[in-house]
Amino acid sequence: MPEKSLGRIGILTGGGDCPGLNAVIRAVAKTAMNNYGATVIGIEDGFEGLVESRMHELSNAQVSGIINQGGTILGTSNKGDPWHYPTEGPDGKTVIVDASQKAIKNYKRWALDALVAVGGDGTMNISHKLAGLGANVVGVPKTIDNDLEATDLTFGHDSAVYIATEAIDRLHTTASSHHRVMVIEVMGRYAGWIALAAGLAGGADIILIPEIPFRWEPICRKVLERSTHGKRFSIICVAEGAKCPEVGEIVKKYDVKRTDAKQLGGVGEFVAKTITEKTELETRVTVLGHLQRGGSPTPFDRILATKFGVLACKLAAKEKYGTMVALRGSEVEPVAIKDAISRQKLVPPDHQMVVAAKSVGTSFGDE
Ligand code: F6P
Repeated sequence: MPEKSLGRIGILTGGGDCPGLNAVIRAVAKTAMNNYGATVIGIEDGFEGLVESRMHELSNAQVSGIINQGGTILGTSNKGDPWHYPTEGPDGKTVIVDASQKAIKNYKRWALDALVAVGGDGTMNISHKLAGLGANVVGVPKTIDNDLEATDLTFGHDSAVYIATEAIDRLHTTASSHHRVMVIEVMGRYAGWIALAAGLAGGADIILIPEIPFRWEPICRKVLERSTHGKRFSIICVAEGAKCPEVGEIVKKYDVKRTDAKQLGGVGEFVAKTITEKTELETRVTVLGHLQRGGSPTPFDRILATKFGVLACKLAAKEKYGTMVALRGSEVEPVAIKDAISRQKLVPPDHQMVVAAKSVGTSFGDE
């Protein structure tokens, strides 16, 4: 028997995708349909779908059998910020406009009682602003980067770390055969959680993250030491946002259509080139890229995503708007979206994982 009526609930996935999005969609939709008799509206391609009125009712069949699927059945976009909306100007060139009124108009036109927005810090920022225009929003945090302050973990992170760790394991055997320095570049724009966790789990010799400034001397010392004593290879796990001495972070290109225009990439190549120049050791680079974001979520992420989705739907039913679901310890609970977006969660240089890695001999290039 349905608990009570929820009416119409919208759901969108915004920003970069990650494993576990479909598990959230399934959890929100099934909870809404089974427990509240609600109509669930799937909004296409994140906030783009809200601005352009592209949405459709989701059936039980559409949200069934997707818990193990990567990506998002709704599509997503990181170019759909209603307050920074790329559109074609009269001369055919892209112009950025404020389309927030369109977004709120479509929210009303589709008679949504609540909107569940699944995304990272960008999505939570937009959700907070939409709430200011009268939308009843509940947030669900996702990002492989795990850089949202209000939650201990975002789903997607565990899957990304699993993939990066497996890649490091594979690099170990070939590095050892050829006595090479292998550099693996993983994602992590501002926060080095993926590099830290995968580097620790994969036994990397050097981990470079944005939060710990590194120097070339300790890195070269470490790889030379290893090449002359004992193991004749090294594995370096570097976050894409790690800042190189003299040049800082390496930006691949700028895309003005995005709120955060910077597209990072290339630090791995830079680190490898510098090591070869300074030590004459042979280096190779692997950029893991979007492999970290694709494919099936781990069981941990499926469970976390399901718990998040169920709670998000319940919060919407109880009219607890302006909230985001969060993991605190082992409990999933609501927090205010405005608190969730106040600060990014960066790796403290004295974090237990950093200390543990240093204790087993891993260098962060700082000493
Ligand atoms: O925020 C998640 C993330 O995977 C970052 O680590 C990375 O910099 C970015 O997305 C890449 O985004 P895109 O796929 O749009 O290039």
